[in-house]
Amino acid sequence: MNILIIGTGYVGLATGIALALKSNKVYFFDKDKEKIKHLSSGQLFFYEPDLQSALEKAISNNRVYFFDMLDKVNEKVDAVFLCIGTPVLKNGKTDLKNIKQAVCDIKKYFGQDIVIAVKSTINPDVFEFIKREFNSNNFHIAVNPEFLREGNALKDTLNPSRIVIGTEDNYAKSMLNNIYRDFDAPKIFTDPISAILIKYASNTFLATKISFINEIANLSDNVGGDIDDIALGIGLDPRIGKDFLKAGIGFGGSCLPKDAKNVIHFSRSKNINLGIIKEAVLINDTQFLVVIEKLKENLGNLKGKVVAVLGLSFKGGTDDLRDSISIKLINELLREGIIVRAQDYLSYEKAKEILKGVFISNDVYMTAKGADAIVIATDWKEYPKADWKKIRNLMKGNLIIDGRNILDKENLKNLGFTYKGIGRK
Ligand SMILES: NC(=O)c1ccc[n+]([C@@H]2O[C@H](COP(=O)([O-])OP(=O)(O)OC[C@H]3O[C@@H](n4cnc5c(N)ncnc54)[C@H](O)[C@@H]3O)[C@@H](O)[C@H]2O)c1
Repeated sequence: MNILIIGTGYVGLATGIALALKSNKVYFFDKDKEKIKHLSSGQLFFYEPDLQSALEKAISNNRVYFFDMLDKVNEKVDAVFLCIGTPVLKNGKTDLKNIKQAVCDIKKYFGQDIVIAVKSTINPDVFEFIKREFNSNNFHIAVNPEFLREGNALKDTLNPSRIVIGTEDNYAKSMLNNIYRDFDAPKIFTDPISAILIKYASNTFLATKISFINEIANLSDNVGGDIDDIALGIGLDPRIGKDFLKAGIGFGGSCLPKDAKNVIHFSRSKNINLGIIKEAVLINDTQFLVVIEKLKENLGNLKGKVVAVLGLSFKGGTDDLRDSISIKLINELLREGIIVRAQDYLSYEKAKEILKGVFISNDVYMTAKGADAIVIATDWKEYPKADWKKIRNLMKGNLIIDGRNILDKENLKNLGFTYKGIGRK
């Protein structure tokens, strides 16, 4: 089939490349000309495992084509996957700018029996807007939410946990069923609004699970429990499950915070109060401040102290800095008069554009040099394997705040560190 992907970010590229690997011809369009230039020459502009080699393979097999203008796509397209960013404004409302532009472009250049599969995360009001705009029999609309995890985007897209197809249009249903025929995953056929709510409920459930364990970790810190044992004890209950029970300094990224804020805003406009989700966001908004408290408890006056923050990306395995807790934390440390040194394996160059006046490197040892304290802000798998004896010798102080609870606390104590986790004994 001929597929058009609009938006070549994490979702668009992973979706398009996966569909190209399943023998479809895939046309990519993005309004960002620089991205299209990079992609046309076979270069990914962000880090994502396996995607670079899959992109090269798809290009050499003549399965993918890249466009910065939609009118250059001269083939008959069977389905359009809308994968554009759907940012929210400060108040939580969706910024409709991208959507309006994409809808306008599709209507202008395509018309006959075309399926529009909305992969971008949108709320029911935005869906109603899209439906109204495509008010013609030529367009067959479906909501097809995406659940991939950054750092695992291509694998998740090729092996999804489920495929949700929300449509009241039989043509869209049968086309999407056909497009996904070689994907080994349960398919849920439902109406568009239920498909939308599956996506919001999934992300806000994950957000709530993280804020829940963080709240218990803060309690544990106060009364002397150990959150690792507590999480194990909770997670072994099959009704709860062990994933997303890792306490820390909170969730970030381009999806969880945005989607939670958007569904709260949307529901408020319908006079529905999403109390649990609101609380999960509120807990997350201040969770990173536990680091400041722990620094004060151990170092006293923070002005002029040197703190090395390890990890800038919103999670390990990605170079994505969007809504990263680490950046929020560093800005707060700077406000306290702390001299911040920071490190990340992948996002260090991008971070230099955001964080001015901060020493930033990709080297843990260089960053730790002369520090009074180290804060682990991102769950990079590399940190537990670092040479902590060497780090201890390079530091001025001996305090380590493990904001992701990933280090071996006994080993660190034996090396002379004062170790503080989040809710860890
Ligand atoms: N990143 C994730 O892990 C993830 C997971 C599931 C769902 N989602 C959702 O999928 C959507 C896309 O997310 P992403 O992370 O891939 O975003 P992204 O920011 O990485 O990429 C979006 C792309 O869309 C392009 N774009 C925006 N408006 C356009 C327009 N009118 N025409 C053409 N191109 C346009 C941008 O230039 C950008 O390249 C969002 O709604 C997001 O919430 C993201």
